[in-house]
Amino acid sequence: MGRVKVGIIGSGFEADIHAESFRIMPDEAEVVAVASPTPGHAERLAKRYDIPRAFTDYRDMLEEHDIEMITVTAPNSLHAGMCIDAAKAGKHVVCEKPLCMTLEEADAMIDTCRRQGVLLMYAEELFFTPKYVKAKQMADEGAFGKIYLVKQAEKHFGPHAPWFWDVNRSGGGVFMDMGCHGIAFCYWFLGRPGIKSVYCQMATHVHADKTEGEDDSVCIIEFDNDAVGMVENSWARRGGMEDRIEVYGEGGCTYADLHMGNALPTFSEYGYGYAVEKAPTTRGWTYPVFEELWNYGFPQEMHHFARCVRGKDNPQATGEDGRVAMEALCAGYHSAATGAKTLFPYHPQGVKKPIDLWRVPKNRG
Ligand SMILES: NC(=O)c1ccc[n+]([C@@H]2O[C@H](COP(=O)([O-])OP(=O)(O)OC[C@H]3O[C@@H](n4cnc5c(N)ncnc54)[C@H](O)[C@@H]3O)[C@@H](O)[C@H]2O)c1
Repeated sequence: MGRVKVGIIGSGFEADIHAESFRIMPDEAEVVAVASPTPGHAERLAKRYDIPRAFTDYRDMLEEHDIEMITVTAPNSLHAGMCIDAAKAGKHVVCEKPLCMTLEEADAMIDTCRRQGVLLMYAEELFFTPKYVKAKQMADEGAFGKIYLVKQAEKHFGPHAPWFWDVNRSGGGVFMDMGCHGIAFCYWFLGRPGIKSVYCQMATHVHADKTEGEDDSVCIIEFDNDAVGMVENSWARRGGMEDRIEVYGEGGCTYADLHMGNALPTFSEYGYGYAVEKAPTTRGWTYPVFEELWNYGFPQEMHHFARCVRGKDNPQATGEDGRVAMEALCAGYHSAATGAKTLFPYHPQGVKKPIDLWRVPKNRG
């Protein structure tokens, strides 16, 4: 059958990561096409990665018969439509996080892919992050005994592209953008237990001029097995990207700091090329990462998804995982509005985007 032929929708930040990831681990898949609406952008990515075909309309790319797997790296509000179109064209789908905007969309994506007989894989790279995978392996071997608390934090000073700040395109602020990582992480780490409740506190501390979305959030998830997940996110934290976990059990604990832990503590009077994602400067004390994509697990993730298309692996991150994160996101926004735990199951109806459960949209207010 040869390598899986991949088409990427989008040509921005994450599309670049996908293209680079397939280049780092090229044995299972090759990117043969990219689609992005702004004239010249798809061509630019195609040139950078030797991708033979570039399209401005992703629907034209879906008509290419040899493409077997599509990765969706467009803004959140477009995920559901693109994934459904790709599935209807008979392509396996990799959808970036967060899965979509509503639970209804999540159900439609999952149902369509099932009916079309294609895989819906959820691009949650934390399931593939080598340090975090090691922590989970130790936990599964019983290193920490019964685990009672798993924490994940992801923070920086705000996203790079304007659409993230527009809640109609993103669905929410930092909780939507990065809380989905922490929720999925805690759920996966603990072996996918049911969720009992979600409590969340959020606010907009520094970026109210830019967004109606929250730029800081703290979320506590109670699981059926009595373990607690704690997810901290911020777009208000200066100094570049922070990503870390803590795991506590009655028999032990482990800590992993993805960036500072892997970095070379460095002082430079003059600065240099690149330290870490979203770092504002390379002068003074910095913590340059190396093998950044590998340490995040992106190449391993894409490699795994290609193997799933060939039937060599079973998807370790699915549309259902993305749906669980969506349900917890909705529950978190609702909790932030009520000040109380949101009990599960939680199925808000007729909500256009998760943040509407917290803030009354301006056009309704
Ligand atoms: N897994 C991660 O850690 C991670 C990191 C960053 C972003 N993401 C996710 O990836 C997605 C994209 O984020 P980004 O940072 O790359 O944003 P970006 O703004 O850098 O890129 C978005 C791309 O989507 C394209 N696009 C917009 N409308 C389109 C359309 N109709 N058809 C095809 N392409 C279209 C844009 O032209 C652009 O190339 C988001 O869902 C985001 O949450 C995930």
